[in-house]
Parts: sequence; structure tokens; C-alpha cells
Amino acid sequence: MKSVLVSRFFILLPWILIVIIMLDVDTRRPAAPLTPRPYFSPYAVGRGGPRLPLRRGGPVRGAEKRNESRQQPQPQPQLPTIYAITPTYSRPVQKAELTRLANTFRQVAQLHWILVEDAAARSELVSRFLARAGLPSTHLHVPTPRRYKRPGLPRATEQRNAGLAWLRQRHQHQRAQPGVLFFADDDNTYSLELFQEMRTTRKVSVWPVGLVGGRRYERPLVENGKVVGWYTGWRADRPFAIDMAGFAVSLQVILSNPKAVFKRRGSQPGMQESDFLKQITTVEELEPKANNCTKVLVWHTRTEKVNLANEPKYHLDTVKIEV
Ligand code: UGA
Ligand code: MN
Repeated sequence: MKSVLVSRFFILLPWILIVIIMLDVDTRRPAAPLTPRPYFSPYAVGRGGPRLPLRRGGPVRGAEKRNESRQQPQPQPQLPTIYAITPTYSRPVQKAELTRLANTFRQVAQLHWILVEDAAARSELVSRFLARAGLPSTHLHVPTPRRYKRPGLPRATEQRNAGLAWLRQRHQHQRAQPGVLFFADDDNTYSLELFQEMRTTRKVSVWPVGLVGGRRYERPLVENGKVVGWYTGWRADRPFAIDMAGFAVSLQVILSNPKAVFKRRGSQPGMQESDFLKQITTVEELEPKANNCTKVLVWHTRTEKVNLANEPKYHLDTVKIEV
């Protein structure tokens, strides 16, 4: 009787083992997600350096396209970091603007967001927002002096300079890593292709900007691969007749021109870009992007002032909600 049981056991044993192995193999295979997983980042705000974003599939070198294959993220040390300096100030639409911007930036590989609040201190709203944004970032603040907060005067001068100072300080002791700086106002609209274009900036690159200067677009005029003039509706005599959203500068150029900043003195609105670019480059040197400046990849959109006419003077709701 005992030997019958033992022989049955040995007959069944291989089958049991096969079933166990099959079950194990099956559970190890990850199920394909139906929707892309949300991407929450472990990055601490303002601390640490530009670390590689953990993108599914990993970024493709020199391209912004999301890799649809299911490979492990690969470190891409060669990909130049894009530093986006964004001045921002408190207003009812601020969080909405920053949300749109973060949703764009999250899709760009190796981007470091330098968010500079026009405020005497970092606000809770922006701090909380950045902590959850899932982006390598640095959170700075500097208030615009009251005397400069007037219509007709240039905006965000101090904030952009604070971003430049942070970049220079961060890289002062090390050989410059490949990097590209871009001024990204919080209300504009950016295509992903734009980042692909600016990533290859050697010194200073330029491209068209949509919905600006009282026209459908403005653009640098290009002949034989060189900028020879400007298609613009406003002060075409400016040395660089271009909006803040229309150019990028390599980190190397920022570091080798340590005195180049945005100036209050003598600067009129609309001249900030030109005054800054004059300090670091010449028109002949400019690198035209976006198919010789024939494609609009960024729009100077402006958000309508919200109607808060029915907002009660004193808090009436039972809960306090951040908007
Ligand atoms: C145009 C240009 O596109 C800006 O780059 C330029 O700074 C600005 O003119 C100017 O007059 O200086 P515009 O749409 O008129 O842009 O300006 P805003 O979008 O209102 O401001 C530009 C950036 O500065 C935004 O990111 C905004 O959040 C920030 N800002 C604006 C401040 O940080 N503080 C302010 O008081 C106003
Ligand atoms: Mn704007």
C-alpha cells in the first residue's frame, strides 16, 4: 500500500512542478497598463541637481518623442539639460497656468524647471504645486520693487536675473555640462517639438513666435541659413526684434558672459530681449531653428483676466479651497 502511494507521488511530482513553474512565470510578466501610469516624482524641490527623469521607455537621445517600447529607463548623460526659467506671480489663474506648463514640461526629457516667484517669500501654493509636479526643479523668489510694478514697464526682470544667477552659481566650479537655457513665461503655449529644436543650440538659437507683436506671428528672416532681418509688426529696428519665447542660449554662453543680465535702467518694454541678446551674441551668429524659422512651435498666448465679480467679500464657503 505504502509503495503504491510513493509511486503515485513520484508520478504526480513532475506535473505539480510544471504547474508551479508555469504559474510563477505568468505572475512575473507585468500586465500591460491600460492607460499610461501617472508619473509622480521623488524629486525634492530645489534640492539636488538635475537628475534624470524616470520616463517610461527612457528618452531617446536627441529626440523628445516618448519611446513606446517597454525598456528600462536608460541614463542619457549626453543629452543637454534644458533649463527653463519661468517668472511667475500670484493671481487667480496662476495655478492653472503652472499646471498647463508642468503638463508640457513633464513630457520633455532632461528638463530642469527654474521657477522664480515674484514675491517676498516662496508661497505655499507654488511650493505645494512643485512638490507634486513630478519635475526636477528649483524654486526661487525675488520681489519686483514696487516702483517697477507699473504698466508700461518691463516685467520679470529681477526674476529672470535670479534664475541666471542660480545657474551661474551652480556651475561655477565645474566644467559646464551640456545645457540650454530658455525663458519660459508661464502663460505661453509650447509644442514638444520646440524642445527638440532648442536642445541642439550651440550658442544662441532663434525661431518664430505665434500670436505676438500685433501679428499672427513674428519670425527671424533667414537667407542661406543665416538670420538677415526680422518679420515683425513692432520696432523692426531693434537689433534683435524677437520675443522672450523666441530664443535659447547654451549654458556655455551664459557662463562665459557672467555679466549678461536683464537691465532695468534704460530698458523699455519690448526691448529686454534685444538688450540681453546684444550682450552675448551677434545677429550673424544666430542659429535658425524650426526649419529655417518657417514653423511656429510656440505661441505668445495670454490668459484672459478672470471675472470674479460674484466672489463674496468675506469667506462664505464651509471649506477653504485652493484654486
Ligand atoms: C511680453 C513678453 O513676452 C515677456 O517675456 C516680457 O517680460 C513682457 O512682455 C514685458 O512687458 O516685460 P506679456 O505677455 O506682456 O509678455 O507679459 P506677462 O506674461 O504678463 O509677463 C511675463 C512673465 O513675467 C510671466 O511669466 C509672468 O508670470 C511674469 N510676471 C509678470 C511676473 O513675474 N510679475 C509680474 O508682475 C508680471
Ligand atoms: Mn505673457
